[in-house]
Amino acid sequence: MKIAIASDHRGVAAKSKIKEFLEQSGYYVKDFGPASEDAVDYPDYAVKVAQAVSGGKVQRGILICGTGLGMCISANKIQGVRAATVHDIFTAEMSRRHNDANVLCMGEMIVNTEQMLEIVKVWLVTAFEGGRHQKRIDKIKKIEQTD
Ligand code: RB5
Repeated sequence: MKIAIASDHRGVAAKSKIKEFLEQSGYYVKDFGPASEDAVDYPDYAVKVAQAVSGGKVQRGILICGTGLGMCISANKIQGVRAATVHDIFTAEMSRRHNDANVLCMGEMIVNTEQMLEIVKVWLVTAFEGGRHQKRIDKIKKIEQTD
């Protein structure tokens, strides 16, 4: 599985730990930056990951900012992206099982890096349940088409 990752200045340290973990686990990781902790604007980075997911260059995306909120709001502007802000294992699982989330957003002011790694592990291996949930995803896709 190919994964795109990015952060804003708040998430740089966590991003690098997550990237290291993913590469050690055998995933291909495309890192869209930033490389330093100089202040940047989260939409500029969210859009890079979201477009990589939307265009099929990668299967999943991971975004980290202070709260996970700005990244999520921005990523969800891109067609085909279902970004979810997740701060615990339960919502990590549910975002996959029910919402087929393809972008994971986390906030470094809320969860520490160890917790993020646990969330990432669960989120990557949890399958979408389909069934009645597929009908709802199809409705989300329809909303995008009427935009
Ligand atoms: C940056 O200070 C902060 O606003 C950002 O990381 C994020 O929390 C936005 O949602």
